[in-house]
Amino acid sequence: MGMTETAFQMCINPDCRSRFDRGQVLFKCPNCGELLDIQYNWDKIAVPDKLSSFAARWANRQNPLDFSGVWRFRELLDFCPDTRKVTIGEGQTILEQNCAVANYAGMNPDCLFLQYEGLNPSGSFKDNGMAAAFSHAKMVQAKSCACASTGNTSASMSLYAHTCGLKSTVFIGSGRIAFGKLSQAMDYGAQTIQIRGDFDDCMAQVQAVCAKLGLYLLNSLNPFRLEGQKTIMYRIIEQMGWSVPDWVVVPGGNLGNSSAFGKAFLELKELGLIQQIPRMAIINATGADTLTDLVNNKKLTWNDSRVDQKIIDRYYADLTARNFSPHTCASAIEISRPVNLKKCLRSIAVCDGIVRAVTDEEICDAKAVVGKYGLGCEPASAASIAGLKHLVEQGVIGKDERVACVLTGHPLKDPNVTVNYHKDSLGQFSNPPIEAPNDLDEIIKLIQQ
Ligand code: F0G
Repeated sequence: MGMTETAFQMCINPDCRSRFDRGQVLFKCPNCGELLDIQYNWDKIAVPDKLSSFAARWANRQNPLDFSGVWRFRELLDFCPDTRKVTIGEGQTILEQNCAVANYAGMNPDCLFLQYEGLNPSGSFKDNGMAAAFSHAKMVQAKSCACASTGNTSASMSLYAHTCGLKSTVFIGSGRIAFGKLSQAMDYGAQTIQIRGDFDDCMAQVQAVCAKLGLYLLNSLNPFRLEGQKTIMYRIIEQMGWSVPDWVVVPGGNLGNSSAFGKAFLELKELGLIQQIPRMAIINATGADTLTDLVNNKKLTWNDSRVDQKIIDRYYADLTARNFSPHTCASAIEISRPVNLKKCLRSIAVCDGIVRAVTDEEICDAKAVVGKYGLGCEPASAASIAGLKHLVEQGVIGKDERVACVLTGHPLKDPNVTVNYHKDSLGQFSNPPIEAPNDLDEIIKLIQQ
């Protein structure tokens, strides 16, 4: 196994580094329990010598793999044969230069770019990862799958599962997921199990259930999912005319995106396809700020792959002792034990990254601004804009640097947060509906006010 194939799985633990065939179903290293990466034998893959070569695929959109915003870049995630690749048209997402949101964040008008991943088929960035992971699931002939979710993973997984003919089970924390997302899981035919607990409880249960029942796990512990999520960065580069931004700003929850983005840039640099790696800012909500606390206060670092496990163990033991459960209106990132923590630390090292936390109030205001001046997004996504505003105020990000914010989910995912914000005039951008009598003159008076 290993050198004759295009891709293999490898443990990230420097003292283990076990390798496994790409056809094995593993979500953690069976030898040491650490996270697994997908690695490539690049000399066995016909990678184009410049990124702009991928643009030719747009001329061939009848081919579903060329139409897919994931598989258009297939040489950069070459782990399965074309015949097994799954696509439902994911990745047709837009990078919008947005002057008004730039102004809100304190940036020069032409410097802010919004990557709308809510435009995916299930309404979030997860579809990028699911296209890749379900291709692997088909490769290994999985019959049933499962995930724990704050909502979007469950929506995306259940859509791809029925497309691929797999039975799907989702674990969600009771009362912890937004209505739009729950409605999707039910509508797409998943078995939906609501656990009395939070996302971290669901994550622990789903791993145990998958191990016991042999279900295919679709959380971002699954290294194939992160391969699909790398393509969000390729599309940002593509839409910036094959150049990299100075900064990428992304919300942080289970830390799959930040992990995938750092890997994407590292590989592009190693392949000579980009000269410069952008810096990355990862934004937590203050009510779910494990990463911020660990990195900024406890000084946890990648440390050249030797992460200090004692710091993490002590931190989690304290959370348990306090019976801590995270709380934020951005329910998508309401997570206190992010499974990809170590890979995220690697991304921070690769991208000279930084971490910040923003309040729910800041998230809701930023979300309203994206709604008012852009295409809208769900609360967790707006954390990126709120975080950017902090970083510009602090002088960490220059107002003339080119920044791409990843807006991870569609505004209709969480109508409750939106309606409450506007109806109850909770913030500076609230736009409540006006009560009117059923009377033409009165209605005209109101419009002309
Ligand atoms: N934004 C949205 C809209 C999300 O749904 C999530 C994660 C994140 C950001 C955080 O991304 O985990 O890569 O750091 N949602 C997961 C779920 C956990 O179950 O849907 P991350």
